[in-house]
Parts: sequence; C-alpha cells; structure tokens
Amino acid sequence: MTNENNKKIVALNGSPHHNGNTVLLMKWVIKGCQMKGAKTEWIHLTNHTLNFCKGCFSCLRTGKCILKDDLEFILDILLNADGIIVGAPVYEDAPPALFKNLMDRLALLNLYTDLFENQFSVGVSTSGIAPYKKVAKEISIFFGRRIGSIGSKTASLKLGYCPLKEVYRSNLPKKAKELGKI
Ligand SMILES: Cc1cc2nc3c(=O)[nH]c(=O)nc-3n(C[C@H](O)[C@H](O)[C@H](O)COP(=O)(O)O)c2cc1C
Repeated sequence: MTNENNKKIVALNGSPHHNGNTVLLMKWVIKGCQMKGAKTEWIHLTNHTLNFCKGCFSCLRTGKCILKDDLEFILDILLNADGIIVGAPVYEDAPPALFKNLMDRLALLNLYTDLFENQFSVGVSTSGIAPYKKVAKEISIFFGRRIGSIGSKTASLKLGYCPLKEVYRSNLPKKAKELGKI
C-alpha cells in the first residue's frame, strides 16, 4: 500500500467472522503491505460497541458524536493510519449492518470534512455469488483515497456457509498481495 517503510496500515474487518472469507483475503493484502515494511493493526468491529446513529446532526455542529461508545477509539486508529484495508462481506447486496452502522456514524463528518483524505484505502469483499465487486469498491471509497479493491464469490448461499474454495482463490493471493504492495 506504500513504498516507504514504517507506514501504519489498519485492517478494518466488518464481518462477524474473525477468520472467515473476507479476513482471509484481507490477510493476503496485508502480506503485501508487510513485504513493503508496513506495520499492521486489526479492528474487528464485532469486538466493539457501536450504537445506532440518532440522526441528530450534532456531529456537524461540534465535530463529535454525542453517543458515548467506541466510535472515537476506532476513528482515532483509522485517522492515524496511512492506509486502511476495508473488509466486509455482502449481506443482502450491501455490507452487513455491523459495518453499515459505522458508515452511518461517520457519514456526515465524512461528507462535509473529507474525513479520510490522508488515508489510502483498499476494499475487500466476498459473497456467495454477487455483488462483491460493487461492495468492495463502495466501502473503499468511503474510507479513503481508493487505490483498488478485490473480492471473490464463494460459490453458493443455499449450502450455508461456504469457505472460499480453491477454484475461486487460485490467483487471488497473488493479486491481493500486489494490491498491498502499492
Ligand atoms: C445474512 C446473510 C446475507 C447474505 N447475503 C448475501 C447476498 O445478498 N449475496 C451473496 O452473494 N451472498 C450473501 N451472503 C453470503 C456471504 O456474503 C458469504 O458467505 C461471505 O463469503 C461471508 O464472508 P465472511 O466469511 O467474511 O463473513 C450472505 C450471508 C449472510 C449470513
């Protein structure tokens, strides 16, 4: 994600699975970042408390959210990063509510202050069938200056939870690592 050493990269995981398909892909991107000497830190959103946006518009007046939870902690880590690897699976053609909730909480600040103007971002998404490309792109655009995105289908929904199969992942590790090296 950068050509210089000592850059900080945050991996923001919006999947409830800490070792699922999205995280697997994110790890490959991280490998590319680490090959360039970057330090990495994970944020798993399921480890944090985030309430729902109240729609009060206070953040526009004060620059801060009125809700007392983990938002500031998470935001601080993200804003101190040079790059953000943003990962979320597809739920109902969009990121899961877990992840969308964070976007809602930052939406107005992001819109009016260009919150992540100093961060580069890479989007990562997986789905049973579709639309992982759309989601990977959307989430990376929100969290910085997008340098790329990567995703994969996992084959099915009817079978229940499907780990990313060899057939789909054959060229993914290489592609993901290259993305992390940029
Ligand atoms: C509630 C729910 C909704 C889902 N909706 C979709 C969908 O709309 N389209 C799709 O292709 N896959 C859908 N999936 C499948 C997941 O996107 C897929 O299993 C993904 O690889 C899970 O990633 P993870 O292991 O990182 O959590 C859904 C899964 C769940 C649990």
